[in-house]
Amino acid sequence: MEKHIQIFLKKISYLSITIATLTLLLTFLFQTPPQTCIDPKTNPHHKPHPKSSCDAAHRPITTIDKRNHRLWSTNAWRKSVDSFSAIFNHLQTLKHLNNHTHALVSSAGGGQAVMSLQQIGLHEITGVELIDSPPLVSRADPHNLPFFDGVFNLGFSAHLDQALFPSRYVRELERTVRVGGVCVVCVEECGDGEVKEVLKLFRKLEFSQARNVTLMGSKMTMIITRRIKTRS
Ligand SMILES: *[C@@H]1O[C@H](CO)[C@@H](O)[C@H](O)[C@H]1NC(C)=O
Ligand SMILES: *[C@@H]1O[C@H](CO)[C@@H](O)[C@H](O)[C@H]1NC(C)=O
Repeated sequence: MEKHIQIFLKKISYLSITIATLTLLLTFLFQTPPQTCIDPKTNPHHKPHPKSSCDAAHRPITTIDKRNHRLWSTNAWRKSVDSFSAIFNHLQTLKHLNNHTHALVSSAGGGQAVMSLQQIGLHEITGVELIDSPPLVSRADPHNLPFFDGVFNLGFSAHLDQALFPSRYVRELERTVRVGGVCVVCVEECGDGEVKEVLKLFRKLEFSQARNVTLMGSKMTMIITRRIKTRS
């Protein structure tokens, strides 16, 4: 009787050892990650995906911020902004510019002139260029501005020289500046003869002043005109 019990107990203990071993084995198997799940760190070809759509929407903005931060801290950028500031300070002394001036920068490039106007303290600045540079410059064709007539107090362009159709370019600049407002264009350094040629492009503006300036490292002539009442 006792022997029987001993054998039975031994059998049970063997069985429990086997069950324990199997359980351990199964736990181990289930803890091993499946083959399809590859650790991004061990696979160089694996590109991390955004965790959610929120992440995906945020990603380009951080990239733009980083790129802008790098660009705006370069010497070339700061020098360029400073050269615009010299011009705008002059316009301020002429009373063509104050904090409440709504300014348009046509062919704004990367936005150096826009940043300069921001630093001066203008609240409303619109910079446009064929290729946008957020957050300073929006995309619009300077030959076909998406603005109503007379919405700006100042129309500015340092790139009239590069305009494909200068007369159309100037017409658009004139159109968007209100009566009493000013249009300022900078062209390659020139004398009175060439200034007169440039002025022929303007139809609704009267000449105010021409002045030699240095802009973005180039010698240029700034031509200041004032929007007058049209006869037509
Ligand atoms: C206007 O700008 C000048 C500097 O150009 C600044 O001292 C002044 O506080 C500004 N005023 C307003 C109302 O923003
Ligand atoms: C700008 O400088 C050039 C060369 O010195 C001169 O011929 C021209 O008259 C100047 N233009 C103006 C508007 O002062």
